[in-house]
Amino acid sequence: MRKKLLAANWKMYKTQEQTANFFREFIPMAAAHTRDEIVICPPFVDLQTAVNAASGSHVAVGAQNLHWEKEGAFTGEISAGMLTSIHVTHVIIGHSERRQYFNETDDTVNRKLEVALENGLTPILCVGEVLEEREAGLTEDVLRRQCVRAFNGISAKKAAKLTVAYEPVWAIGTGKTATPQMAVDAHLVIRHEAEEAFGEDFAQSLRILYGGSVKPDNASALMSEREIDGALVGGASLDPISFTKIMNY
Ligand code: 13P
Repeated sequence: MRKKLLAANWKMYKTQEQTANFFREFIPMAAAHTRDEIVICPPFVDLQTAVNAASGSHVAVGAQNLHWEKEGAFTGEISAGMLTSIHVTHVIIGHSERRQYFNETDDTVNRKLEVALENGLTPILCVGEVLEEREAGLTEDVLRRQCVRAFNGISAKKAAKLTVAYEPVWAIGTGKTATPQMAVDAHLVIRHEAEEAFGEDFAQSLRILYGGSVKPDNASALMSEREIDGALVGGASLDPISFTKIMNY
């Protein structure tokens, strides 16, 4: 059985003070929760606050992006080593908002994935189709392409910590959720690509999360699917009570 991972992607929300307030409320509610892994991904400037607040608990802290170089003249960027130096353990890579608004490509996603794995971070690689692609029947092609290019040149051994999140772009922040069956179908495509790239054992242990308008009232239906290994939650993760309800699906 794959242990489910419930990840909060806060996007560009919360100051340090708001981050501390969230953890003050959330940590006691998460203290006894060992069924699933929990990770909170706040903005960069809140990471240290989150790491401090989560220390001694089993709640992990992740970043929302990283740069593939170790250091250098890359204004505004953050490296994997900078993240691990403050005990950040996870990193979201290739979120559709970064692909859409910040010119992230399959190639940069591949470089980021490689460097995250090299540095011992657990990457949460995001893939997913936009509405026009789904309507044109291209969902499988898009998922295949994104996976093949992201996995390019990475060995199964190196990829051990890989986690993938299927996030249909049309479901993000729209209140439209993929049905559990739609998510399952997409996850099977992704798992197949992982098998092609890394082998059957790897594919069977790979965790594939669903993301896109996960809320307290739809979390149970999604999480009861054996093929869905967790959730990547945006809006509904900002409130500790709402995220706790999702955690307790
Ligand atoms: P919402 O849960 O707000 O739809 O966001 C999903 C998401 O993009 C998580 O990465």
